[in-house]
Amino acid sequence: MAKMMLAIRRGTEADLADISAIEREAICPPWSDGTLLRSIYSESGECFVADESGWVVGFAFVSVSEFEAELLQIAVDSTERRRGVGAELLQWTLRSLRQRGVRSVFLEARKSNAAALALYCRFGFCEVGVRRGYYDAPAEDAVVMRLELFS
Ligand SMILES: CC(C)(COP(=O)(O)OP(=O)(O)OC[C@H]1O[C@@H](n2cnc3c(N)ncnc32)[C@H](O)[C@@H]1OP(=O)(O)O)[C@@H](O)C(=O)NCCC(=O)NCCS
Repeated sequence: MAKMMLAIRRGTEADLADISAIEREAICPPWSDGTLLRSIYSESGECFVADESGWVVGFAFVSVSEFEAELLQIAVDSTERRRGVGAELLQWTLRSLRQRGVRSVFLEARKSNAAALALYCRFGFCEVGVRRGYYDAPAEDAVVMRLELFS
């Protein structure tokens, strides 16, 4: 593995173009730039970016409602995967949620998304349900997962 100078920090409007480029390639269907911008500054959520020497290589969005949070999106640039960036982002995000007093974190993932499911399992997320036909283009079920932060 090449040595990385990776920092996780809060996303800002200056990161929008990088986030959008990674998102368009990685997430199906992608959010619009307007939604991304609103999410970067959402009072009920957080946006973190993985910054490698000034280059954004990944991001995560969460929404928070008192003791519960939802991991809305996490993605890493396709050329930077399997180098620990996703794990670092998720670890940072979960630490921040714990500090906010969040107890449970939920997420949905495509049933076929082996990489994401393996990442979530590694962090202790457990499958708690399936939403039939949740995704479009292509149609697919969603696996619903939950992590208890203080168990
Ligand atoms: C899911 C994603 C964020 C993982 O990011 P990443 O930086 O490649 O992940 P990491 O290198 O930190 O890997 C952490 C762990 O996740 C799991 N993992 C990641 N990619 C995997 C793959 N392709 N196959 C199997 N397990 C994988 C492994 O357990 C890995 O630990 P290991 O390397 O010690 O085996 C990345 O694949 C991605 O951006 N995918 C497209 C967007 C997406 O699907 N997001 C999730 C939407 S629900």
